[in-house]
This record gives sequence, C-alpha cells and structure tokens, in this order.
Amino acid sequence: MPLVPMKQILDEAIKADYGVGAFNVNNMEQIQGIMKAAKETASPVILQASRGALKYTNMVYIKHLVAAACEDNPDIPIALHLDHGNSLETCKMAIGLGFTSVMMDGSLKEDAKTPTTFDENVEVTKKVVEYAHAFGVTVEGELGTLGGIEDGVGSGKVRLTDPDEAVKFVEITGVDALALAIGTSHGAYKFKAEPKLAIDIVSEVSERLKNFPLVMHGSSSVPKELIDIINKYGGNMQKTMGVPIESIQQAIKRGIRKINVDTDGRLAMTGAIRKCLSEKLDVFDPREYFGKAREAVYEMVKGKMVAFGTTGHAGDYKPATLEDMKKVYEEK
Ligand code: G3H
Ligand code: 13P
Ligand code: ZN
Repeated sequence: MPLVPMKQILDEAIKADYGVGAFNVNNMEQIQGIMKAAKETASPVILQASRGALKYTNMVYIKHLVAAACEDNPDIPIALHLDHGNSLETCKMAIGLGFTSVMMDGSLKEDAKTPTTFDENVEVTKKVVEYAHAFGVTVEGELGTLGGIEDGVGSGKVRLTDPDEAVKFVEITGVDALALAIGTSHGAYKFKAEPKLAIDIVSEVSERLKNFPLVMHGSSSVPKELIDIINKYGGNMQKTMGVPIESIQQAIKRGIRKINVDTDGRLAMTGAIRKCLSEKLDVFDPREYFGKAREAVYEMVKGKMVAFGTTGHAGDYKPATLEDMKKVYEEK
C-alpha cells in the first residue's frame, strides 16, 4: 500500500487505545529489521528520518528504501515522518520527497539549539501547518524543550510543557500531534537512576484536548543488556538509564500515542556488530555483521511493538491517502 498519513495511524491508535513506535532510520538494515517486526506482529509503524538521516542518505536513498518497504509489506500501514524539522524550508523539502508527515520543532530556533518563545513557535508551526495540510500531510509540533543534546538536536536545558500553553498552541496552530517535554532527553545518557517523569502533564493535556495524539521524544529504554554487549565486546559506554518500558506504558494509558525511538536501535546494531566481529576475527563480508545488526533491530522493535500494544492492529482500517486527508483538512 502507499505511505499512509501519520494522522490516520495516530487517530486509529486513539480509537483502540495503544501506542505506535516511531523508529529513526538511516539505512536498509534498520528499515528491514523494523519491517520484519511490523510484518510478524501485524503492527502499523512510523519510520522517521532526521535531517541527519536525509544528509546521510542523500535524500533519494531514504525515499526509495522506504518505497521498497511499502512494496514489500502491502498489508502494513507505514507513515514516513520528518523528525525534528527546523524550518518551513526543511518541511517543504520533506513533503516534496513524499513524506506523509513532518515535525516542525519550533521549540528551538533554526539552529536546533536555542529555545524560542511561545509566539515564535506558534508563528513558524502555523506556517508549516498551512503548507502541509494543503498536501494532506500531517504535522507534529513540539512545546517545551527536552534535556540532552544528540548530534546537535536539543538545547541541553529542560523546560517542561505547560499544559495551558499546550492547549492554546494546538488551538492556534492546528497541529495534528504534539510532542510534550515531560523530563526525557535524547541519546543514551538520559538518567543516572530510575527516572521520575512528569507524567501528570500528559494526563492534564489529554483530558483537555480530548482524543488528541500526544508524542513522547527521547523514549529509548537504553537496556542494560545492550550496553553490556557493547562493553563486553570492546566498547566503552558509561553506566546509564533510559525510560523504563513501564513508564512508557503508563504514558500510553494517559494519552501518548507516538513513541520516538532512535538510540535503542543504535545500541542494538552496535552491540551486534561488535559481537560478530570480535567472535569471528576472519569475517570480512559486511552481510555477516550487517545481517546480525538487522536481526538485533528486529528483536528490539518487536519487543516494543508488543509492549506498546501495537500488535495485531495493522488490518483494523482502510488506509487513507494524502488526497483523502486533503479533503478532511479542506472541510475543517
Ligand atoms: O532526535 C534526534 C534523533 O535521535 C536523531 O538523531 O540527528 O543524529 O539522526 P540524528
Ligand atoms: P532516543 O534518543 O531516546 O531514542 O529519542 C529519539 C527521538 O526522540 C527522536 O526524535
Ligand atoms: Zn526527538
């Protein structure tokens, strides 16, 4: 089936009360690992590409790799989403490439580091919504800032989302989904001990914005088993903690529908490749270690699809097209 607008995937998740993983992708093996998990568990899925991923893949490769995933998995609803778009121009570029969803991260300026004011965020996000909806493309906004800096994304300062502002932001901008800052951060080094997330913010916003999909960034769990594999086979990662799966499950119950995961995929692949190359010193066929990396991504993603309750929902609905969505937006 063709790529599906992300709005439909999230609205359906609200109806049947589950969460959908949004997995960052940069290469074929990641996409294949994720799609194997989606197919085996009949789960809808969101593939997301950051600006870094667009650069790494020279854009055209990501577009065609995702097209291959659609052709290979005709029964799975797949949305292709721009992660952390930093300007209207970047969002336009992604829409031109065929993305069915974009994130305008107006919580930060175009440098993706300096926090903006509420009004600046509203201004740029509103422009993206007007542009994207004319193509039937979904828009995710962000209010508040995450902690941590991952490859240049993030201010490093936490500013939790104010629920009053969140309600106002959604009403003024017309975004289809909103990322909340509830104490998570990007990357592997999130917490030193068991985290306490500001989960009440999720409840308050979803009680006020009825049936509106909320998004959690920085949702990798950074499993100790993956860190241990990396360190056992020559790596040197420090002790760290991510977001426990139980916290994500609680967040889903309260209204989080899109769960962003990048770091766990990186850890899974790195561990598998280190293990393979350390155990077999004569290996020089990349298919051996990339094949192991692909399996590791599959295992990790499958576990999350089960935990988020996504499994079995791929066939629940007739997939919408961007044309269908255009009409929905026109009628609003
Ligand atoms: O939000 C950040 C994601 O982990 C993307 O990271 O910009 O290195 O691709 P990246
Ligand atoms: P992690 O670094 O926790 O995987 O978060 C990824 C993310 O939020 C991408 O937008
Ligand atoms: Zn993010």
